[in-house]
Amino acid sequence: MDKLVIVGGKALEGETRISGAKNATLPILAACLLAEGPSLVRNVPHLHDVTTSIELLSGMGVRVTLADGMGLEVDAGAVDNVHAPYDLVKTMRASILVLGPLVARFGRADVSLPGGCAIGSRPVNLHIDGLAAMGADIRVENGYIRASAGRLKGARIVLETVTVTGTENLMMAATLAEGTTVIENAAREPEVVDLACFLNRMGARVQGAGTDTLVIEGVKRLHGTEYEVMPDRIETGTYLIAGAITGGLITLKNIRQGTLDAVLAKLQEAGAQIRCADNMITLDMRGRRPRAVDVRTAPYPAFPTDMQAQFMALNAIAEGTATMVETVFENRYMHVQEMERMGADIRVQGNVAVVHGVERLTGAPVMATDLRASAGLVLGALVAEGETEVDRIYHIDRGYECIEEKLGQLGACIRRIPQ
Ligand code: UD1
Repeated sequence: MDKLVIVGGKALEGETRISGAKNATLPILAACLLAEGPSLVRNVPHLHDVTTSIELLSGMGVRVTLADGMGLEVDAGAVDNVHAPYDLVKTMRASILVLGPLVARFGRADVSLPGGCAIGSRPVNLHIDGLAAMGADIRVENGYIRASAGRLKGARIVLETVTVTGTENLMMAATLAEGTTVIENAAREPEVVDLACFLNRMGARVQGAGTDTLVIEGVKRLHGTEYEVMPDRIETGTYLIAGAITGGLITLKNIRQGTLDAVLAKLQEAGAQIRCADNMITLDMRGRRPRAVDVRTAPYPAFPTDMQAQFMALNAIAEGTATMVETVFENRYMHVQEMERMGADIRVQGNVAVVHGVERLTGAPVMATDLRASAGLVLGALVAEGETEVDRIYHIDRGYECIEEKLGQLGACIRRIPQ
């Protein structure tokens, strides 16, 4: 397993480019299952989760070919099975996103249940209940979700919890259903909107994306299209914190400002000066120590749970004390113990973490536990005195494209040690 070795203490300066959004790419690739012809998806990030998606779709008979650099051509014209095996699903929970498209287009699906995951139990009951409401017959047996259906029927679905992939799965399924589907309490994340735009380009009729009510009028068939995936807002936020935590001056290209409001507000509260223009953002924190900022995670447009670990790193060296509340996942503080090994002062009780900012962190060997937790550790390492070795960085490779290259472009002292 590769490691990252980081020598902290350098103020970052320079610019780098933000990649396509992982959490938009994964549902868009799954949505290609709905179309009879090939689609060209551009701005696809080179990430381990994307490779897993390609493997999953290829196993079903979908033809996926590389097109000019960051594009993928995806053709689901000759799907010959509807099986999503445990071996792949267990490495990437988002594999569940094939469930809705498979049932809608082929009337069958055989998708492994994802099982537990480091940040909490993460059930998929709402995906299953929603498809059942559209008329699918669903059994869970031998660890698999086995679904069969004739043409799905439009339904009114009220989600009891806001779920991102749940909303996406049901929205995709509804595009080919007979009649109109209304999804209430839908997720409003920008990635849901990106998926809806992609579906509409394929001939779907989805309205209301970005609000909590989606109205989907089913159509008989969808066609392939061309689409450019939106920039990754979590990657953007992570690099902005890298600039802020080190007292740097950085510019990020290919960003989408409107998707970052809650994160930018917190960075400004921490003392950062931020300027946006033409899909670029510049953060200036030179000569200043961040101020502690309270954070409460919740579904979009509130503060994203996927930025909680990174802000904890910022709070760890900030002036003052911050209270952080995680309301989305029950066990998303596994980075705390690792940050404490670097000298952070954090007390956790239930879903509340109180972070007393310290003057300095010190380098230490630490272990990545999940994707965003590992990003938090890398950020801590950038400002820690001495050398930090971050182990198990396959978690980072799931969601951050070339992290050592991009941080290197910004002047960080970071190298990968292949194992
Ligand atoms: C997605 C994102 C992930 C992000 C999360 C929350 C992708 C590929 N992943 O994950 O990066 O951290 O949103 O913003 O887009 N729940 C249920 N029943 C269900 C489904 C969910 O109870 O059937 C609960 C979960 O346990 C959790 C909450 O709903 O407490 C939100 O989870 P959800 O939005 O579904 O997360 P994901 O879609 O898996």
